[in-house]
Amino acid sequence: MRKSLLVLLLVSMVALLAACGGGDKIIVGTDAAFAPFESLDGEDIVGFDVDLLAAVMEEAGLEYELNNVGWDPIFPSLKNGSIDVAISGITITEERKQEFDFTRPYFESTHMIAFYEGTDIQSANDLEGKIIGVQTGTTGQFAAESIVGESNPNLQLFETTALALAALKQGNIEAVVTDIAVASEFVKNNPNDNVQLVSDAENFEAEYYGLMLADGSELKETLDTALSTVIENGKYAEIFQKWFGTSPDVESLLNQ
Ligand code: ARG
Repeated sequence: MRKSLLVLLLVSMVALLAACGGGDKIIVGTDAAFAPFESLDGEDIVGFDVDLLAAVMEEAGLEYELNNVGWDPIFPSLKNGSIDVAISGITITEERKQEFDFTRPYFESTHMIAFYEGTDIQSANDLEGKIIGVQTGTTGQFAAESIVGESNPNLQLFETTALALAALKQGNIEAVVTDIAVASEFVKNNPNDNVQLVSDAENFEAEYYGLMLADGSELKETLDTALSTVIENGKYAEIFQKWFGTSPDVESLLNQ
């Protein structure tokens, strides 16, 4: 009798420990084809977002694991709970806010058009009639569609931004609409190519990245507090300097 009680106790303790262990670690998802925010270096995911996430999680005292789940899967994965958080240069939009929660903003962005010398593009309106590449389901797609119209046959959708940029390099498409820092990174990584960048403040508005969470996530408050601390205590500026080679405008970010 005593022995079986002991066994029962042991079994339930093991079950409890297993349950706790599984729930302790935060699972974070990303799409690691968006340098300099997240990309693969061999097996490792590296980038601004990766370092910022590490700083925020350390500040929050949370254990986490970062998984390269891909862009499209981020959204259903947050909904079904297979990931708890997503960091992936994700723009906070009104549409997404209907279905998800976001932390406070951590990066200001806008769109750029990348193309090779010889293609005549001076502003976003010149995208009309060009073969354009965008990553599916991104604000780059929506920005391009606002110029050339939805389901325009000249608008090619790519699973990743890296693939869209590769198609541009190969000459399969004439322009890519993507986030400013990603376009600049492409220029930097292809110094011998004549890559041109054009911005268009009239057509491409400022947007802000946030960490994305399931609607009503309990993590929001903790992550917001940790993110604000990291922005205020200089850690953010250190990471920004590492990846962008300049100082961030922390003041204006904190006012967002
Ligand atoms: N900022 C854009 C958006 O939210 C593009 C983000 C793409 N990120 C990525 N890791 N592929 O739609």
